[in-house]
Amino acid sequence: MTWLIALIAISLVLNLVFVIMIASLKYSRSAPNAENTDMPAPARSPEMDVAKFYNEQTDNFLKVYGNVIQAFRTKNVNTLLDYQIGTIGLKSGMKALDAGCGVCGPAVYFAQQAGCTIEAITISRVQVEKAKEHIARNGAEDRVFVREGDYHNLEACYPENSFDAIYFLESFGHAKSHEQVLDSAWKVLKPGGVVYIKDLFIKKAALKGMAPGIEKEIQNINSAYHYNVPELNRILDHVRKKGYILSSLKTIDIPLEEFENLTISNDFQELTGINKIENLREYVFPVDFFELKLIKPAIGLASGNSRYFLQNMYFMQIQNWPEKDL
Ligand SMILES: C[S@@+](CC[C@H](N)C(=O)[O-])C[C@H]1O[C@@H](n2cnc3c(N)ncnc32)[C@H](O)[C@@H]1O
Repeated sequence: MTWLIALIAISLVLNLVFVIMIASLKYSRSAPNAENTDMPAPARSPEMDVAKFYNEQTDNFLKVYGNVIQAFRTKNVNTLLDYQIGTIGLKSGMKALDAGCGVCGPAVYFAQQAGCTIEAITISRVQVEKAKEHIARNGAEDRVFVREGDYHNLEACYPENSFDAIYFLESFGHAKSHEQVLDSAWKVLKPGGVVYIKDLFIKKAALKGMAPGIEKEIQNINSAYHYNVPELNRILDHVRKKGYILSSLKTIDIPLEEFENLTISNDFQELTGINKIENLREYVFPVDFFELKLIKPAIGLASGNSRYFLQNMYFMQIQNWPEKDL
């Protein structure tokens, strides 16, 4: 009997030792430990990745694209920029914000040709330095002002209601939250001011069988360029919910003989190896290029007779204005 009790006691002690050993092993794996190389790297925010991407790749972009980093463009890039002055509606005396400004190629051109003042923001420190050089080379220091910052949080950089126009030239699609960017733009835009977005959007599959190919290529773009290619209908839902007036939505109307045919992005892919198309036969072109123009409505009694009267009335109702005053 005694030997049985002794045996049970010994096996209990051994079990206990075993449990303690396993627990301490587990703890040593999961506890923070600088020497533990198995530890996952701390999570990077998507903005950090975009900044890193442009800090590393801006020299290559400059080699291939020059000062205007837009893939959908004209053979003579000034034709594209002149078109954009017209579509954004930039005029002398206006104050505009270039959100995702690259090295300020467009901003300097717009300021000089249209006579407006431009604040420019980019997430990349390297681009800020290159932009400052470009601004100085062109004597535009009194018209173009560049800074490092995140367009998800424009109100941290600029006063509310301060811009006549905010434009995004192939930059909006980098956003981790397109909705947040539109909300942020709303805050710093003057009532009556314009948001202009030129970008690529996920293509709708004409045939069901094309959908997986589109999805695969969108994933490739997103990971290679740190993009988040927007879905147009989702953007429109937010635009309408927020209260922007959808002034226009269209395919970018560049005449065929002027169109550069996206060869520049192939050149960039050749130079850097980024997102090179390996098999053209299987490749599905995954995006459409659109331009959107939105207006932040001026809301109030003084706007009662504007052509956006119905929108004005709706928002005045939301703000509890008495109906007799509408
Ligand atoms: C394809 S480049 C276009 C540059 C410029 N619009 C042009 O036409 O030359 C995209 C730009 O968006 C900027 N960008 C991306 N995410 C951003 C963010 N969260 N805040 C500010 N800029 C951002 C990048 O730093 C880069 O300058």
